[in-house]
Amino acid sequence: MSSSDSPTLRKSEFVRSALFAVLAGLLLVAAPAGEASAAYYHDLEKNRQPCSDCHTLHYGEGDAQPPGVEVGGPFQQLLIRATTNKLCLFCHDGSDPKAPDVLASVIMYDGSGDEHSGAGFFDNSGGFANVKGHDLGLNAPTVPFSTRTNVTLTCASCHDPHGTPNYRNVLTAPAGGVGMTVEMARDVFRNQPPGDPPSAAASIAAYRESNEGYKANTSRWCAECHDQLKPSVNNPTNRIHHLIDVPIDGAGYPTDPAHWGGGVGNGFGDVTGDETEGVPRLRFQVSGATDYASARTVVSGNEVMCANCHLAHGGRHEKGLVWPYKDSGGPVDKDSGCNQCHNY
Ligand code: HEC
Ligand code: HEC
Ligand code: HEC
Ligand code: HEC
Ligand code: HEC
Ligand code: HEC
Repeated sequence: MSSSDSPTLRKSEFVRSALFAVLAGLLLVAAPAGEASAAYYHDLEKNRQPCSDCHTLHYGEGDAQPPGVEVGGPFQQLLIRATTNKLCLFCHDGSDPKAPDVLASVIMYDGSGDEHSGAGFFDNSGGFANVKGHDLGLNAPTVPFSTRTNVTLTCASCHDPHGTPNYRNVLTAPAGGVGMTVEMARDVFRNQPPGDPPSAAASIAAYRESNEGYKANTSRWCAECHDQLKPSVNNPTNRIHHLIDVPIDGAGYPTDPAHWGGGVGNGFGDVTGDETEGVPRLRFQVSGATDYASARTVVSGNEVMCANCHLAHGGRHEKGLVWPYKDSGGPVDKDSGCNQCHNY
């Protein structure tokens, strides 16, 4: 895995030397804004990220608090806000129409043709338990399907604010160790790239759910933290969990591949929660995909992955599920997702 690890290493070395260069510049003369400041947000491919969006180097050394920086500093890692979650949500809470909104309630994708983004959204900005997905800024003494204990999630538990080779800048090793790269254009394909420079319309197009097609590794990436799923994740002789990476039309499976391929009737519908049974077609994986179009082609051998059923951040339904399988009140869409594949 050393070849896939090295870009990450190079990047963090770059970051350290860039910070050093900026610091040295500030110490010698009142340096003009560094070149990076003229560039765009989190531009993964070109590695252009303005450090000053997130860091301030001399909080409290002058008389005044630096402009645009939260009161009460200096903060850890020279951040401009007290916590990483606050920093990221300053833009990603819906207040900046160019930044994908990840905090409920999200209206940015209304009218886009999709019900949500690829990752869905968090129920609150941190500190409160959320039954509808991942909790931010709250200690989890135990973690489901995991040997890990006392984990407090921040945006930086899963994303590298400085970029990685991975899609959506996800960390290669969120739980340490060797980890799992999930690269854009290798494991995940996209139709529209994000705007450069970012714009509201381009962000809606780039981050809506159907802009991505999945080929490999996203489920195994989740199992980095949910490590107890690793041995059973696609082991047909150890079916203690629903398998992933397996085709819907696998021999002997209790599925209805023709029903999945057809896409009409039991389980399929236009809108989740419209009082008519059926939800939009779930996402799926195509391990032989070579591009966005092939990763999105519906066939009876499409494969199972975590993101069929779960949203990475969370969403409207319990356990971050895409449809209301666990919700109370007997919603008509309760079993819809299951029936797209099983047709019971
Ligand atoms: C999008 C916001 C953002 C941008 C842009 C950003 N950083 Fe950071 N940086 C962070 C956060 C958040 C942390 C703390 C990570 C954590 O919580 O674990 C951090 C941590 C660091 C650290 C501490 C060591 C480490 O890697 O954790 C250094 C050094 C650093 N940043 C340098 C830079 C430089 C230099 C730039 C510009 C080239 C930059 N950062 C741009 C958000 C950012
Ligand atoms: C950085 C480690 C980490 C990664 C990576 C991770 N999780 Fe989690 N997950 C947790 C922790 C910690 C909890 C327990 C606290 C909570 O609910 O947020 C959890 C809880 C959950 C829950 C239960 C949520 C609830 O409301 O009860 C689900 C479902 C879940 N994870 C699915 C996933 C999926 C799917 C992925 C991959 C997209 C993933 N996780 C990736 C750490 C992680
Ligand atoms: C448990 C891991 C995890 C945590 C914690 C997490 N993310 Fe994500 N995030 C992901 C994954 C995985 C994706 C890609 C999902 C997909 O499209 O397949 C993603 C996608 C995104 C996207 C793309 C837009 C979208 O909605 O799909 C943005 C922006 C983002 N995350 C920002 C954040 C911010 C800001 C935070 C903290 C408030 C955060 N993330 C916390 C795992 C996480
Ligand atoms: C100053 C505003 C701002 C801050 C602060 C900020 N973001 Fe963003 N972020 C954006 C914008 C705007 C985009 C859309 C970029 C584009 O379309 O080119 C974006 C895009 C993203 C994406 C999608 C990247 C991709 O591959 O397409 C992720 C993931 C993300 N941000 C995570 C974070 C995290 C984690 C933090 C905190 C460490 C953070 N952001 C802080 C404005 C911000
Ligand atoms: C076919 C749908 C489906 C797939 C695929 C799937 N899950 Fe789930 N998951 C569920 C359902 C439904 C629940 C709610 C509990 C239950 O019914 O077992 C759940 C619950 C969970 C929980 C919370 C358990 C708890 O006790 O709170 C975690 C964590 C989780 N899944 C992670 C994952 C990860 C990681 C993957 C991929 C490796 C994955 N799931 C794949 C449907 C799925
Ligand atoms: C994307 C397609 C898909 C979806 C959605 C789906 N399944 Fe499955 N299911 C499969 C496949 C493929 C298998 C065979 C592989 C396996 O055993 O995991 C399977 C197997 C099963 C099995 C038999 C497991 C065994 O040990 O023999 C059960 C029970 C099951 N699914 C229940 C569910 C339920 C409940 C839901 C909804 C929460 C659901 N499935 C959603 C594709 C799907």
